[in-house]
Amino acid sequence: MIAESGSANSPPRDPAIVIAHRGASGYLPEHTLAAYATAILQGADFIEPDLVMTRDGHLIARHDNVLDWTTDVAQRPGFAARRTTRQIDGTTITGWFSEDFTLAEIQTLRAVERIPEVRPGNCRFDGQFTFPTLTDVLRLVQAMERATGRKIGIYPETKHPTHFQQLGLALEEPLLEALHRDGFGSGEPVFIQSFEVANLRKLRSLTRIPLIQLLAPQGQPYDVAAAGGSLSYDQMATPKGLAQIATYADGVGPEKNHFLLPLDQAGRLDPSHATDFVKNAHRVGLKVHPYTFRAENCFLPTNHRQGADPKAPGNLESELAIFLALGIDGFFTDHPDLGARARDVLARQSLDWPHADQ
Ligand code: G3P
Ligand code: CA
Repeated sequence: MIAESGSANSPPRDPAIVIAHRGASGYLPEHTLAAYATAILQGADFIEPDLVMTRDGHLIARHDNVLDWTTDVAQRPGFAARRTTRQIDGTTITGWFSEDFTLAEIQTLRAVERIPEVRPGNCRFDGQFTFPTLTDVLRLVQAMERATGRKIGIYPETKHPTHFQQLGLALEEPLLEALHRDGFGSGEPVFIQSFEVANLRKLRSLTRIPLIQLLAPQGQPYDVAAAGGSLSYDQMATPKGLAQIATYADGVGPEKNHFLLPLDQAGRLDPSHATDFVKNAHRVGLKVHPYTFRAENCFLPTNHRQGADPKAPGNLESELAIFLALGIDGFFTDHPDLGARARDVLARQSLDWPHADQ
């Protein structure tokens, strides 16, 4: 098999990178040092911390600034009065917010599993782990590099950049300062990602670290909406939109089915339905790192499930084999062990290349 769709005479691309989505979040509560360390031991090339801000300006690894979705804050009587209602990226949300807590207060909280109905086994770790600062994550990477002898990459995402900028807690410069303080500059295996545009453009003016424009399956970047713009994610995914992205970013992180390979009406994955997205992105020099590959049946295409239990593992590796054959450059997965195995199977097959002149 040839790793890039298209010409049989083109050389194989580099093996796809395995990006541990929020750590090994299929096995442990997300965004904990335990989840990141497990991911590295499972073979992840990069670990992904999503980042939000505390009131006192510390970057912490959380997917949401809403703390009640993945922490035990609701069980803490001392913080009951902090519950409030706020607009986040145009949506009204009631809960506890990272920007209302100092780092010292947040470090008294403990992580809990986000989706206990799908991952009940992960709940045995509820209440056991604090959540790390970005610097904690960087130091873990350095320790794991020493322990394993492998180079490990870091793939931070700025969450809600417009929201935090409006609060006077802009993420971008503290992120770069933290990365540079610990030696994670350009030339190291680092990517910075965002669903918004303006902060990536700002980052482009500040750093040569590769930037990844995330593309959601609907709507538009919040900063574009807040400025009254009309640019949608679908428009950004056209050849013209991708060429525009290439002026400030080095790659794209598209939702895998909407942009690369739509499911049919029965929820099945059919490789013949692949779009030209990968080819179009590569044509303008953008890497393609789709999200998010998960092993449980409820997240898989119907023809890659095994059995009827939505919580049970299906065949993630067969799903990944199809996407890898499209020529993607990497992928986000909650199950880095399975992701690395699928990637390595393809790499072994490509050792037979080239077939064309035999
Ligand atoms: O960053 C890639 C992927 O993680 C985007 O989705 O919502 O899990 O951050 P999300
Ligand atoms: Ca993310």
